[in-house]
Amino acid sequence: MRAAAQHPPAPGRLGLIWPVLLDALPASGACVLDCGGGSGTFAVPLAQAGAHVTVVDVSADALATLHRRAAEAGVAEQVVGRQGDVEGLAEVVDGSRFDLVLAHGVLGAVEALGPAFAAIAAAVRPGGWLSVVVANPVAAVLARAFAGDVAAALAELRALDTDVHAAGPDTVAALCRANGLQVSAMHGIGVFSDLLPGRALDAPGAREALDRLEAAASGRPPLRNIAARVHLMARRPD
Ligand SMILES: C[S@@+](CC[C@H](N)C(=O)[O-])C[C@H]1O[C@@H](n2cnc3c(N)ncnc32)[C@H](O)[C@@H]1O
Repeated sequence: MRAAAQHPPAPGRLGLIWPVLLDALPASGACVLDCGGGSGTFAVPLAQAGAHVTVVDVSADALATLHRRAAEAGVAEQVVGRQGDVEGLAEVVDGSRFDLVLAHGVLGAVEALGPAFAAIAAAVRPGGWLSVVVANPVAAVLARAFAGDVAAALAELRALDTDVHAAGPDTVAALCRANGLQVSAMHGIGVFSDLLPGRALDAPGAREALDRLEAAASGRPPLRNIAARVHLMARRPD
């Protein structure tokens, strides 16, 4: 049993993704690459689960925080930080390939999505997995409308047709296929959370109830299609 299965991250943003990542790890000696891994929100728990994790990030500050958090968690020797751009990933990781590659929250920040995605996908070994988290542009339409800004909602809606190369879930699924990866799962992260007024969570037990509601809705269309973020898992065939 992997050590960190006893220390799962708190529910919420990580909660729905975490068991999926654990399932994708080989039983021992897992090598993980976290692209745009920042300060180690995923890298440190993955190292606690026994993986060796390489984090590539452009931010020196984020990597400094990563190293501090890894040391505090007692996994400094399993976590390597490399400052670099995912668009030049092959050079940054010397062409290495990994059992599990994460690209959480980074695709929306790259300049050239296609080349960056190809570099990330190339780092997945045959039989390995890619985990992607991207913002869902459909959720932006709903958020604007529920906030009462109807004109902005219409602009966001029109952008869905014009900004077809943005890193939304459908674009990412197409990029997976174009780069030889098979999409095996797509889950919505935050179907309701960003739409609820803050006071809705004041009542005792409300946050736990919301976590259960989010978990039940995350894999169920059409609810998963309006989530704030989407988590995709894709596999490179052996
Ligand atoms: C929204 S944060 C996500 C952090 C982490 N993956 C998570 O899910 O908590 C985006 C991270 O990507 C990094 N980043 C942005 N553009 C990048 C690029 N072109 N190459 C590498 N890292 C990048 C930022 O420095 C930041 O740490």
